[in-house]
Amino acid sequence: MSGRKLIKNGIIVTASDQYEADILIEGEHISAIGDNLSAPGAEVIDAKGCYVFPGAIDPHTHLDMPFGGTVTKDDFESGTIAAAFGGTTSIIDFCLTEKGKPLHDAIQTWHNKSKDKSVIDYSFHLMIGEMNENVLKELPEVIEKEGITSFKVFMAYKNVFQADDATLFHTLKVAKEQGALVMVHAENGDVIDYLTKEALKKGNTEPIYHALTRPPEAEGEATGRAAQLTKLANSQLYVVHVSCAEAVEKIAEARGKGVDIWGETCPQYLMLDQSYLEKPDFEGAKYVWSPPLREKWNQGVLWNALKSGQLQTLGSDQCSFDFNGQKSLGKGDFTKIPNGGPMIEDRVSILFSEGVNKGRITINQFVDIVSTRVAKLFGMFPKKGTIAVGADADIVLFDPNKERVISASTHHMAVDYNAFEGMKITGEPVSVLVRGNFVIRDKQFVGKAGHGEYIKRKKYGVTKELKRNESISI
Ligand code: URP
Ligand code: ZN
Ligand code: ZN
Ligand code: ZN
Repeated sequence: MSGRKLIKNGIIVTASDQYEADILIEGEHISAIGDNLSAPGAEVIDAKGCYVFPGAIDPHTHLDMPFGGTVTKDDFESGTIAAAFGGTTSIIDFCLTEKGKPLHDAIQTWHNKSKDKSVIDYSFHLMIGEMNENVLKELPEVIEKEGITSFKVFMAYKNVFQADDATLFHTLKVAKEQGALVMVHAENGDVIDYLTKEALKKGNTEPIYHALTRPPEAEGEATGRAAQLTKLANSQLYVVHVSCAEAVEKIAEARGKGVDIWGETCPQYLMLDQSYLEKPDFEGAKYVWSPPLREKWNQGVLWNALKSGQLQTLGSDQCSFDFNGQKSLGKGDFTKIPNGGPMIEDRVSILFSEGVNKGRITINQFVDIVSTRVAKLFGMFPKKGTIAVGADADIVLFDPNKERVISASTHHMAVDYNAFEGMKITGEPVSVLVRGNFVIRDKQFVGKAGHGEYIKRKKYGVTKELKRNESISI
């Protein structure tokens, strides 16, 4: 039972404000915010010295996902426990579909993976690999009944997930008509395929060739193409895991022309660079992501884009594989290294420590990037993504002064390494509530597998309609 809880002495921070006030939680919701609230019988939670943030929302996770000949190490239980330790109270995971098979089967598979396991709330994006009569027939139900209002199209991973431009364009048109947001993995898969074959022919098999065969031009080109197709379809686009200046430029250019386009980056692109792939003894495999890590100077471009609003969100792209046993599948052939890394736990703290503490973004921007903007873009606001009366009581008590060293020996992900091993950060979640229930209390896990609820999301543009009435801005 969640009961009544009264949070006192904390500093509430939202995407727009920072102020001292008490928060009363009744059941799963916030029922009052104000000075010196009194609530006889309520459990008092002392938040002295802490910021009180809305629970973070991770817009990009791959839990229990088959990929690269293996399955991601973190499932919906270990992955969401780790997320909760990091201050994340909701995730949106990618539901993979198979060509020729009903969308409904794929969605059911994802419900089965998550239902009794997730400790925080969750929702799904749906992959669109083809667009035909059968898919078209199913989409209204996907949107209306499942509340899945974002579709993912891969422009890369040739012969695996990659869709052609006709499929992307058709998806953009349908999304516009039906109120969904199209997401793209923007890399030119055909060019990457060409460069990969060329590298292997020359005997270039080490992890660094993963990066060298996926150049920034391939990401910039695909991002620009997707932006143009979005403009032509008069639709809306969200570019996942933006890694480099070439892609930021294309997004900024399209935004400048009034295209409804949004961009996400990830902690790895803000903090790590291509040289990590050259670590000896195959250790470079730990740092294989697609898009790959870039030359270091790109990091400044990404930080500036977050600050200026040309990029709006930070996803973890959580896609964890053990170094021993899973990443090692690619010894002697970089194309067989499973792509991805563990990031769900440290996404929020890294952005706070490196972003807010170092003056690269403001604390309100931080909240917007990890929570509010995600809720608005993906149809969850104002139930999620803010601290307001009536909102779900998804709340993080965050100690901004606590110092910590990131390590696989202390993290809660199920994977055997951490890409940020040894990194010192300042600021960490102390307690985390999901719909009024503690999941983390004084840095201890007190949640329950299956407590997480599936979130049916609103159509894209609902909050934009409100903008015209000047109630909420997106
Ligand atoms: O390397 C990555 N990003 N792995 C996860 C799958 C994807 O492309 O997002
Ligand atoms: Zn991707
Ligand atoms: Zn991903
Ligand atoms: Zn609710």
